Amino acid sequence: MADFVGAVDQGTTSTRFMIFDHGGNEVARHQLEHEQILPRAGWVEHNPVEIWERTTAVIRTALNARGLHASDLAALGVTNQRETSVVWDRRTGRPYYNAIVWQDTRTDQIAAALDRDGRGDVIRRKAGLPPATYFSGGKVQWILENVDGVRAAAERGEALFGNTDTWLLWHLTGGVDGGVHVTDVTNASRTMLMNLETLDWDDELLSFFNIPRSMLPQIRPSSDPRRYGVTLPSGPLGGEVPLTADLGDQQAATVGQVCFAEGEAKNTYGTGNFMLLNTGTSLVRSNSGLLTTVCYQLGDDPAVYALEGSIAVTGSAVQWLRDQLGIISGAAQSESLAAQVEDNGGVYFVPAFSGLFAPYWRSDARGAIVGLSRYNTNAHLARATLEAICYQSRDVSEAMEKDSGVHLDVLKVDGGVTANRLCMQLQADILGVPVSRPVVAETTALGAAYAAGLAVGFWKSTDELRQNWNESERWEPTWSQERRDEGYAKWKKAVQRTLDWVEV
Ligand code: G3P
Repeated sequence: MADFVGAVDQGTTSTRFMIFDHGGNEVARHQLEHEQILPRAGWVEHNPVEIWERTTAVIRTALNARGLHASDLAALGVTNQRETSVVWDRRTGRPYYNAIVWQDTRTDQIAAALDRDGRGDVIRRKAGLPPATYFSGGKVQWILENVDGVRAAAERGEALFGNTDTWLLWHLTGGVDGGVHVTDVTNASRTMLMNLETLDWDDELLSFFNIPRSMLPQIRPSSDPRRYGVTLPSGPLGGEVPLTADLGDQQAATVGQVCFAEGEAKNTYGTGNFMLLNTGTSLVRSNSGLLTTVCYQLGDDPAVYALEGSIAVTGSAVQWLRDQLGIISGAAQSESLAAQVEDNGGVYFVPAFSGLFAPYWRSDARGAIVGLSRYNTNAHLARATLEAICYQSRDVSEAMEKDSGVHLDVLKVDGGVTANRLCMQLQADILGVPVSRPVVAETTALGAAYAAGLAVGFWKSTDELRQNWNESERWEPTWSQERRDEGYAKWKKAVQRTLDWVEV
C-alpha cells in the first residue's frame, strides 16, 4: 500500500492540501486564499470557479514540493466549509451564481417566515436545526427565486446543488465528463433538508423551501470503503486515487482530535468557532440553543451524532481589526497589542457581524463595543476581541453542559487562533478549565485523512488513531472565581445590548 493519505481542506478563507503519514504527521502542505466577495451589507459570496482553481493549484504544489505522485497516496479525503451553497449547470460546469457563504444573512426573511407558521418546529424536530440564515436550504431557495432560469433548469434536471465538498468531488472525478454528485451525512445535516433519523433528504423539508430533489446529491457515509469515485488522471493529482472520505470541516476536526467516545469534545478556532460534543449513536435534542448534527458515519456503522455550538465570528473579528480598522498589521499582532495591557480596561466587544449564532440564534443582532472611556486604547480593544472569542465559547460550553450533563474536565482546542497563546490563556481563565492543544494543530485536514485512510485499511481502527494524538501545550486557569464571574456577567450585559439595539 502507498505510504501516505491526502486531504483537501476547502475552508472559508482558504483552501489547503495536506499529506500525512501513518503516524498522522504532516508530510506536505500548500494553502491559498480566495476572494471574499462582499457585495452588500450582510452578503458574503465566493467564486466557485476560483475555489476549484485554488484546489488544483494547492494539490499540484504540495505534491511537487515533495516529489510525490498519485501512486504515493492510498486514499484522498475532502473536508469543507459547511453550508456554503453552490448551484451549477451539470452540462457546462458553470455556476449559475456565486457560492452563498454560511455567514451570509440575505435569507433572513426566508428564515423568519419559517418560524411564523410552524414550519420552524418541524425543521427543529426533523433536521435538529433552528431556522436560520446559516444553513443551506434558504440559500438554495434564494438562488432558485432570484437567478433567472435556475428554477426551470432545476426542473429539467440540469441544475445541481452542493456544498463545496460536492462541487470539488464532482470536479475531481471528471466534472462534465461524468463527475460524481455526492455529499456525506455531516454536510447534508447542515442544510435543513435532511432528516437526522433516516439520514435521507426529507420531502416535507424540501417542500418548505420548494427545492426539487433532482438537484440534490446522493448522501453517503463520511468514510466509505465503497469509495465515491477515483480522481481523474488528467486532474491535479495526475493519476487515480480513491476518494473515500467527505465530511464537514468541524466534524473532520472532531475526528482529527480523536473524539470517538461519547462525551468527548473539541473547540476549533477559525473564522468562527465550533464546539462539538460527541453524543454517540443517540440523538440529543438541545433545549439551550445548540444544534443537533451528524458527527460522522464510518462505513456501514451507525451514524454518530454531536451537539454543536456554532459561533459565527471569532478569528474573523481579529481580521476585522486588521482589515477594517487597521489597528494591527497581522493576526499575530493582536497578541502583542493585547499583551500591552493587564486587562480589558472595562471594554467588551460583541462581534455580532452575522447576527448571533449559538446559543442566541438572532440573525438581526448587530455588533457592539461597550464600556468605553477616554482611558481606553487600541490595546484594550485588541484584548476585548480575544476575550470575545473566549466568552462566546463559554456561552456554548454552558449550553452544552445544560443539554448533555457533561462537564468538560479539559477543553481540546485546534485551529489557527490557537497559535495565539494569550487567547488560549484567556480561554482557560474565562472557562475555568484547562485548555489543551495537540501537536498536529491541523486537525481538520488530519480528520479527513483519517476518515479516508480508515476506509481503505491504511489505518485499521479508531483505536489506532488515538495513539497518534499527543498534547503539545496546556493552559491552566489563573483567574479567581470572583474575577471570572464578574467578567462573564459583564459579557452577558454586553450581549444584551446587541439584541436590544435592533428592538429600538
Ligand atoms: O459552518 C461553517 C464552518 O464549517 C466554517 O469553518 O473553518 O472554514 O471557518 P471555517
